[in-house]
Amino acid sequence: MQTVTEIQALRAAVRGWRASGQAVGLVPTMGNLHEGHFSLLKQARARCDRVVASVFVNPTQFGPGEDFERYPRTLAQDQVGLAEHDCDLVFAPSVETMYPFGPEHSVRVQVPRLTETLEGAHRPGHFDGMATVVCKLFNLVQPDVAVFGQKDFQQLRVIERFVRDLGLPVTVLAAPIVRESDGLAMSSRNQYLSPEERQRAVGIHRTLQAMKVWHVAGRSPQAIEQEAAAQLRELGFEPDYAAVRRSADLALPEHGEREHLVALIAARLGSTRLIDNLLLD
Ligand code: PAJ
Repeated sequence: MQTVTEIQALRAAVRGWRASGQAVGLVPTMGNLHEGHFSLLKQARARCDRVVASVFVNPTQFGPGEDFERYPRTLAQDQVGLAEHDCDLVFAPSVETMYPFGPEHSVRVQVPRLTETLEGAHRPGHFDGMATVVCKLFNLVQPDVAVFGQKDFQQLRVIERFVRDLGLPVTVLAAPIVRESDGLAMSSRNQYLSPEERQRAVGIHRTLQAMKVWHVAGRSPQAIEQEAAAQLRELGFEPDYAAVRRSADLALPEHGEREHLVALIAARLGSTRLIDNLLLD
């Protein structure tokens, strides 16, 4: 496995593979890798001859006061895990390599509507920064396939949308959420939790499961959302949202619409913000 930090070296490696007709898969990450990330790698491996993983904590998708500075950076450890999962190339650029023009970097990939709700409403600018860096990674690597986790459900929908609307020649694949044995969705941010918070964190998944039970029992999205927010507060969370949405476009379900819905939660436990979701059918 090769690690490169410069764009030229990245392009040279990928160009060689493509010239010999090999299909290239990309798994973008911010590092501090866990089994959730490795599941994406396995999916890329199954579909492609060559697999590239990027490790880049992208400053433009963090808001002021968010965890950009304290986000765990563990490249040496990540390289071991990536090599074990049969990764061919790690692209680990510096901020200067990705944004050589600093504040003069003015182009943004914006996906209106889809990014104005849920995470977008609570993290202004987050999806612009995310979509811009993912679009740039697509341009640098030019993968045939890119794999993203359903853990970040809205992120996945935003990426699918700009790929569709811009006609980018990449197939976006979605991978299911990988969970700890108690049901907590794996996340690099779980390590911010104190042992006591870690025990309580499973309450998000439990609440999502309850939302599904309430949905199956025929309760309305509004009633489910209210009940879920109340349950989260009882469990010691500060919810940003507990929502029932259409899984295709995250719009509010119409009156009586009951199929292809997803439940999504974002909630704080102390200073840690966690997100998770569950398809309702
Ligand atoms: P990061 O949070 O490192 O996640 C990288 C990829 O791993 C994303 O596609 C995410 O959905 C997936 N992932 C994380 N936890 C998962 C889990 N428990 N199960 C399945 N997949 C999981 O998401 C980002 O980085 C960034 O926004 C990025 C796309 C790299 C752009 O900077």
